[in-house]
Order: sequence, then structure tokens, then C-alpha cells
Amino acid sequence: MYNLLKGKKGIIFGALNDKSIAWKVAEKAHEEGAEFVLTNTPASLRFGDLDVLAQKTGSKIVAADATNEKDLENLIKETMAHFGGKVDFILHSVAMSLNVRKGKAYDDLNYAYFQKTIDISALSFHKVMQIAKKNEAINDWGSIVALSYIAAQRTLSGYNDMADSKSMLESIARSFGYIYGREKNVRINTISQSPTLTTAGSGVKGMEGLIDFTERMSPLGNASAQECADYCVTLFSDLTRKVTMQNLFHDGGFSSMGMSYRAMEMYNKSLDNPVDLSGMK
Ligand SMILES: NC(=O)c1ccc[n+]([C@@H]2O[C@H](COP(=O)([O-])OP(=O)(O)OC[C@H]3O[C@@H](n4cnc5c(N)ncnc54)[C@H](O)[C@@H]3O)[C@@H](O)[C@H]2O)c1
Repeated sequence: MYNLLKGKKGIIFGALNDKSIAWKVAEKAHEEGAEFVLTNTPASLRFGDLDVLAQKTGSKIVAADATNEKDLENLIKETMAHFGGKVDFILHSVAMSLNVRKGKAYDDLNYAYFQKTIDISALSFHKVMQIAKKNEAINDWGSIVALSYIAAQRTLSGYNDMADSKSMLESIARSFGYIYGREKNVRINTISQSPTLTTAGSGVKGMEGLIDFTERMSPLGNASAQECADYCVTLFSDLTRKVTMQNLFHDGGFSSMGMSYRAMEMYNKSLDNPVDLSGMK
């Protein structure tokens, strides 16, 4: 514990259960002295365990669908009334694709689902920030973080329309980061996290194979949800006040790799004539 967030107040979107990245961020932010409001959709509040987290961290829960502007207005209003003022940080940890859920292939997408994917996983980030800004809900030098994935830059089999929504999410962070930074010194970044076994993560086809692959490819191994929480807390803290408009890879080095010895070893096993890899390390 470093008391990195002592006196800071925030809003945390997207904690569903104790596997959620947002759940780990809330626990860590609490440990570091922050107070926050927890929010998720009314349906997630019924089926998830958010009340357990709220009790553990002494937090208020406000239901909001992150695509619904009225819900977001209400969330901001209730949060400001609860704290008697502005907040210092927001975590956007929200994503969902019905095309992925329903097994629609990328060349056979349902466009109503596609629009919903973009609305939930990318546009909602813009809506949260626009409504927060118009209500003057964030203190100067505040920090906003959204969670992204490397499928924004590189094609990964099975990630489907979530890839397009992550590209848009990262672009929104830059575009809004310019304006909010210029006017209020508020910084906006995305963290591009390793594949992680959460409820959303498990929905991606072949997730376990992908996790094994990225683990073998990354010199530091995959980053866990807990480690992602550690990183988020540094971005909410005053130690990172000049970091903005960035997509920050938190992936054990995966994004800079082409091929690793450990992955090559595995691939080699499947060849008809495996190569002698000794001396390659
Ligand atoms: N799990 C991974 O492998 C991984 C990797 C990189 C990035 N991410 C990103 O991390 C974030 C959190 O996902 P997670 O892996 O913790 O899974 P999760 O399923 O625990 O969290 C996703 C959350 O989004 C919420 N949500 C869905 N629709 C919503 C809406 N309309 N309004 C408000 N909330 C809504 C869900 O209720 C849930 O709490 C997502 O943006 C995800 O894309 C996940």
C-alpha cells in the first residue's frame, strides 16, 4: 500500500464478479485510499455480485446502462451529490458483442448487433466523457482510463467486431484526450491488456489456446487482472500527470514480439519434420 489515491474519488464501470478486471481495480483503488461509485447495468446488478464489492469497499452503487445518456446523466448527478463535488478518475471497463456471443462470423455479421457492439464497447466511452465534461464532473488533472485489446491494431482470429470497437475506443481516447487535456488538464488513456479469463474474455472462441500462445510469446508472461489493476491505479495517481492520449500495452511484452523460442518450440512439435532448435534460445 502506497496511499497513491488518498483523497481521490472516482467512478468504476464494469465490475460484474470477482473475475472482472474492474473488480480488481476497485479492490486496489480502495486499498490505495480512493472512494468511488460502482456502476453496471440493471441486469448485471441482478445477476452479478456487485453488492459484495460495494460492501467490501464501502461504495455506493448506481445502476446505468453505459449506452443510455439519461442513465449516465443520472449517474453523474448522483455521484456528485454523493461526494458533494467532482471526481478525480473514471474507469471504463465495458464491452459486449452479440455477434461474438451468438457465434456470427465476421463475414456474416448481424448489423444491428454490430451497431450495439460499437455502442456498448466504444461509443459509451465518448458518452461517459461528454456527459461528465458538460456537467463539470471531473477535477482538473483528473484521469480517465478505458480497457482495450491488441485486436485494435492486429487481426486475431475470432475477435470479430470487438476488434473494430477497440480501434474506435482508442481513437476516442486520443480525440477526447486532446480537448479535455487542453481545457481541464484531464488525461485520457487506454490500457491494452493481455487476454484474461473473465466473463467477457471467456466469450471469445479459442480463448484458452490464445492465453497459452500469448503466455509463450511474452517475455514477462501474460498480465493478470490483478496486475492490470496495479497499472490502472498508477494512471489514476498523481505520478502520471503528463501521460495522455496513449494506448498503453500491459501485456508482458507480447505486442513487441514476432516469435519466441517458447512458441516456436510448441509450433515445431506439430511439423512433420521437427527442426532441431538447440542453440536458438
Ligand atoms: N478479458 C480479456 O481478455 C480482456 C483483454 C483486454 C481488454 N479487456 C477489456 O476489459 C474490459 C472489462 O472486461 P472483463 O474482461 O473484465 O469482463 P467482464 O465481463 O467482467 O466485464 C465486462 C463488463 O461490461 C459490462 N457491460 C456490458 N454491457 C454494458 C452496458 N451496456 N453498460 C454498462 N456496462 C456494460 C458488463 O456488465 C460487465 O460488467 C472490457 O472492455 C474488455 O474488452 C478484456
